[in-house]
Amino acid sequence: MSGAIEVIATKRDGGELSDDQVRWVLEAYVRGEVAPEQMSALLMAIVWRGLSPAELSAWTSAMVASGTRMDLSGTGRPVVDKHSSGGVGDKVSLVVAPLVAALGVAVPKLSGRGLGHTGGTLDKLESIPGWRADLSTAQFLGQLRSVGAVIASAGADLAPADKQLYALRDVTATVPSIPLIASSIMSKKIAGGADAVLLDVKVGAGAFMPDLDSARLLAQTMVGLGRDAGVRTVCLLTSMEAPLGRAIGNALEVAEAVEVLSGGGPADLREVCLAVATEMLALGGLPQDPGPALADGRALEVWRRMVDAQGGDPGAALPSAPLVEVVEAPRSGHLVRLDALAVGTAAWRLGAGRARKEDSVDPAAGVVLGASLGERVEAGQPLLTLHASSRERIADGRAALDGSYDISDEPQPLAPLVLEKVG
Ligand code: URA
Repeated sequence: MSGAIEVIATKRDGGELSDDQVRWVLEAYVRGEVAPEQMSALLMAIVWRGLSPAELSAWTSAMVASGTRMDLSGTGRPVVDKHSSGGVGDKVSLVVAPLVAALGVAVPKLSGRGLGHTGGTLDKLESIPGWRADLSTAQFLGQLRSVGAVIASAGADLAPADKQLYALRDVTATVPSIPLIASSIMSKKIAGGADAVLLDVKVGAGAFMPDLDSARLLAQTMVGLGRDAGVRTVCLLTSMEAPLGRAIGNALEVAEAVEVLSGGGPADLREVCLAVATEMLALGGLPQDPGPALADGRALEVWRRMVDAQGGDPGAALPSAPLVEVVEAPRSGHLVRLDALAVGTAAWRLGAGRARKEDSVDPAAGVVLGASLGERVEAGQPLLTLHASSRERIADGRAALDGSYDISDEPQPLAPLVLEKVG
């Protein structure tokens, strides 16, 4: 235990930990030899003091080494993973995994469930009747070879140190630290075994990173960690001031993703999907315009096979909510602000998200926007439609939407969706 005290004191006083100290403290914590209160103190010292590049690299390697790194060498095509830092209405993975796979790059995506106001990719897919997230390693690799795209839950052996650390960070107010977030995300991506990774860091009201400077720093840190681990990494910074697309909620988002895969869907969602897919194809060494594969049905065909391979029925009706309530536009004008955090919180309260890990989600709940940011609306037209299973939930969701939008006489220029590329 004296080793732990020395490590904590070194970091508290702004000193630098050696590779051996970093490796030891993480390994000993996972073995139960460093107590949670000691790791909590170390995490808080890291929040304040940060980690040097060498410490961060050692920390991330130790997290990867706490489990097994997937071997995807038998896939037979370039393998590119994708990660989003999480946003409201962010169903980009549902579109780009089959889209990129249709064009020759395999996408192995190990995902998590959502917590709070941003939905989880697995929760969305689980709204498809029969679809299951838990695959054995053999099933995962088999589907990657045969279909080219898999989105599944991460097994217990994927960077297990991160699972333990994240649970501790969650209850000790030590989540918001760029080195801790970067190592948490990248340890899982590196252990996932892809040749390259495309990161989509969301910036704005509904995102983890509220401002461009902190998002850029997170992006640069993650790109550096990818490089240290031999994984080509590119990061797009994309806007999350307003929800992405018009559907927020699990089944509602699946339906909208299928619209995009069928060549339609909202323009903002299509734009981000195409930007992300373009980067993934370039990272895989097959640069090309992904647009035609949406228009001609190739991406949709891979989606169907991907859903079917995991027990889902791609043609089945998705769950729908028994109660639907419309919030009408109070006046005519241009929709110039629609707060992503407020809409995400409303969807969460309607039942689409969970407050604690053990909670279940309502697959049918959520919010549908009647207009996208920048569009003209007329007084009395549906602006927000709430879907839920009870009157109480509708009232909670409605309350979260108070003050969430502005309608103005004058149109305002739309800010770009893709803000920057790092790496
Ligand atoms: N997502 C992660 O996986 N880890 C973090 O620390 C924050 C967001």
